[in-house]
Amino acid sequence: MRLAQSTGARLDVVALFALSHDVCRTNEGIDRQHGLESAKWIQKLNGKYFHLDEEGMDLLVRAIRYHSDGLIHEDVTVQTCWDADRLDLARVSIFPTPERLCTTAARNADILSWATERAFRKVPAFETLKQWGLDLNTCVVE
Ligand SMILES: [Fe+2]
Repeated sequence: MRLAQSTGARLDVVALFALSHDVCRTNEGIDRQHGLESAKWIQKLNGKYFHLDEEGMDLLVRAIRYHSDGLIHEDVTVQTCWDADRLDLARVSIFPTPERLCTTAARNADILSWATERAFRKVPAFETLKQWGLDLNTCVVE
């Protein structure tokens, strides 16, 4: 969300990406199918738990499907999703070089430093949800 403020990405897509891109990950190691499986999973929820227009859904599915393939995308919302994910890799001791980031905002030294420190702290998901005004105790997952 911090990156999106600089890049102009769609906040609704970025938020949904943050919450769901690894939902089907089966381990913290190599799991080449998790992007595909997470993209399939999120498609089932549109219209039921959130409402994204066709363009937003297309961006979200692309961002999730290919987020771990090391690609660069032409759309700023997809770029922002991928950069946010890459900036969080410090949690597993992987540090993306600036040339592997899509947006100028992500290559900013202050952002890199902030994101790396945040990733090291492994900020729990519930803290992020709380900052967004969401409470896990009121979320229903079927
Ligand atoms: Fe992932």
